[in-house]
Amino acid sequence: MGLGSAKGVESTTPLLQISDLSVARSGEIVIQDVDLEIRKGEFVGLVGPNGSGKTTLLLTILGLLEPVPNTGGIVRVFGKERFSNSDHGRIGWVPQAASNLSSNIRITVRELVRLGTLNPQNMFIMGNSERNARVNRALEMVGIVDKADADVRTLSGGQLQRSVIARALASEADFLLLDEPLVGVDLPSRNSLLKLLDDLCHNENMTVLMVSHDLTTITQAAHRIVYLEGSVRFDGPSYEVPDFSSLAGLRGIVHVHDDHSHEHQ
Ligand SMILES: Nc1ncnc2c1ncn2[C@@H]1O[C@H](COP(=O)(O)OP(=O)(O)OP(=O)(O)O)[C@@H](O)[C@H]1O
Ligand SMILES: [Mg+2]
Repeated sequence: MGLGSAKGVESTTPLLQISDLSVARSGEIVIQDVDLEIRKGEFVGLVGPNGSGKTTLLLTILGLLEPVPNTGGIVRVFGKERFSNSDHGRIGWVPQAASNLSSNIRITVRELVRLGTLNPQNMFIMGNSERNARVNRALEMVGIVDKADADVRTLSGGQLQRSVIARALASEADFLLLDEPLVGVDLPSRNSLLKLLDDLCHNENMTVLMVSHDLTTITQAAHRIVYLEGSVRFDGPSYEVPDFSSLAGLRGIVHVHDDHSHEHQ
């Protein structure tokens, strides 16, 4: 079994299998020769400096970016190279700066979470009662039932992140991809969010791949850390993560993305 897998979960096929993956943005290769396998129930932290390709990797897992042609790169999610229709909704996506998204929309937490149940696959099949049941369950899972009818603009950063995670959960996702969900979240809420994700992995069989800049915080929560900088420089259990100075060693001499990262931000 993979590192940190949830108790009692046996699965022969990894949930995510990536091999020899290179991806280009605007014609320039930004991640190269990435190999990564994630098994059901794992909580994996993806770390790396700005512009190191973390979001690019997540977008590729989502199928929004393609491997560079003829490089042999493979991305399999749920054992398949292309998302089959039945797997739609199994990946929950919590985007970078999700907490800024709804700042000028008047919408309640319940409505936001309900958006997660909108899936082309079930649009005409799922009745209202099922939809409501899913929304309620997602609200419970993230512990935000008491805020269900609050306007999202009145929420704290941590509460808003919980709501965005609930939206992903309402889609019945069993694989959560989170891009910097801790940004703008105060320390106590940050810790409880990480505890929530850990509980989801252990109790709900969720698999989590989470990007964070905050190496200290993420190593406390995730079972396994992947350090990406163009390629995977470290992949191992959180308790074996090298300290910052040796990570600098892993980074090599030049940080190639520094000079032009502003062009795309
Ligand atoms: N739409 C784009 N077009 C061209 N290049 C891009 C685009 N998006 C990102 N890049 C470049 O690809 C590289 C990787 O970017 P990516 O967003 O994956 O990094 P990241 O690790 O998520 O960074 P951050 O920590 O700042 O979010 C960077 O050099 C970035 O400038
Ligand atoms: Mg990013």
